[in-house]
Amino acid sequence: MTKISRRTFIGGSAMMGALLTSPELVKALTSQPYPRVKVANIRNLRVGEPVSFNYPDEHSPAVLIKLGERAYGGVGPDGDIVAFSSLCTHMGCPVSYSKKRFVCACHYSMFDPAKNGQTYQGHASEWLPQIILRFEPSTGDIYAEGVEGLIWGRVRNVLKATKTTKK
Ligand code: FES
Repeated sequence: MTKISRRTFIGGSAMMGALLTSPELVKALTSQPYPRVKVANIRNLRVGEPVSFNYPDEHSPAVLIKLGERAYGGVGPDGDIVAFSSLCTHMGCPVSYSKKRFVCACHYSMFDPAKNGQTYQGHASEWLPQIILRFEPSTGDIYAEGVEGLIWGRVRNVLKATKTTKK
């Protein structure tokens, strides 16, 4: 049986701790190839009326919203269309859109959709994962193409190969 010295054990533990909290590891776990999925067409959107969809797979609820004001990561002619995972980053309760914010009914965390899903009240310490969108001006179609941030309850956002739409 191989003996591990105390120094080796502590050094290894420290390295694992650093890896598990490093932005590089989070990026590696959230930067897999994502499916490209049509979510909506701009002609059907109304300011303040959320559109529910699932992304990157059917088990991951998300919401697209036209805010009516320019937003970080916003697409479309006015840069005001954004989308987020609708699972609260605290304990995974569903969030709902109301009065220009996402609100979690479980413990009242609130997230700002105009600022990349930044949390500004409540227990949640992580921002809502933002769905990366692409707007096609020629058709008005809006596609989901990725996720920034780790979706609640997952060790990686893309769990398995999913079917993609044609470009
Ligand atoms: S689950 Fe949303 S604040 Fe606790």
